Amino acid sequence: MTQSSAPGKIILFGEHAVVYGRPALAVPVVQVHADVDVSDAARAGVWIDAPGVDLHAELNTLPSDHPIASVINNLFFLSHVSPFPNLGIEITSTIPVASGLGSGAAVTVALTRALSSHLNYAMTDEEINAFTYEIEKLHHGTPSGIDNTVVTHARPVYFVKGQPIETFKVAEPFTMVIADTGIPAPTKESVGAVRKLWEADKVQWEKVFDEVEEISFAARRVIEEGWIKMLGALMDENHTLLQQMTVSSPELDHLVEAARNAGALGAKLSGGGRGGNMIALVEPETAERVSVVLKDAGAQNTIIAQIS
Ligand code: PMV
Repeated sequence: MTQSSAPGKIILFGEHAVVYGRPALAVPVVQVHADVDVSDAARAGVWIDAPGVDLHAELNTLPSDHPIASVINNLFFLSHVSPFPNLGIEITSTIPVASGLGSGAAVTVALTRALSSHLNYAMTDEEINAFTYEIEKLHHGTPSGIDNTVVTHARPVYFVKGQPIETFKVAEPFTMVIADTGIPAPTKESVGAVRKLWEADKVQWEKVFDEVEEISFAARRVIEEGWIKMLGALMDENHTLLQQMTVSSPELDHLVEAARNAGALGAKLSGGGRGGNMIALVEPETAERVSVVLKDAGAQNTIIAQIS
């Protein structure tokens, strides 16, 4: 049996603007993860079991553009395996789906690592990252590549589309409460909505993206210096700009407000928006309280994450 695991992720700053070449900061969230076991099977075929998404199927019965089928078929092709092996593939994940925590990328990375290793087909992290990016395109259309990069490398990433990976250091660990609105929100749609705005008035939206860029520059410095208290105000500013991009929602705004009122140092939506998750920066001793307040305010689920 060959096993692999990949973490979830949150975008701290810069979502959407990153699609237009501005930097974004993302960090792994190890409290949630996708796990894959690949084993040789006695029966013929490649049997996939992913109870979280109610998938129990033989590979050939899946549409060829299915993200999981594409990973497996492409890896068979790349590794020149012949004949196709009989396998059992078990996929589990504690990462909520379609909520901005990188569940798709994490499943692909864990599956790619486990299967390539089971097939004795060595892949570097860079190859896994590039491969996962191709698969991400099936989920998101035109993703910037931030999810696959942070999930593959499992380190804080300062991401600029098309540039070599740049990690950054977290001088002082800090605590985030992540709260899920419970509203699934396909990233493709919110990215498409921002694109429409941008196409209608490029000058205006380029200025907004420049403002986000300033926030991301400042946030990186603040995190690298360990001036964590200054991060909250930057999150609040970034949230306001995301509201202008129309990617917040009443539910996200409500949770952001509730977190701030409960003593969070700052809060914003994280990821594609319109649903999915928000994040709140908290002092470690107020994390539990903010988490309870967020649940009372309608969050379906909360995660307290140490970012280091
Ligand atoms: O919803 P998520 O966490 O997959 O993040 C999407 C981030 C965007 O900037 C909105 C899109 C992208 O591809 O970077």
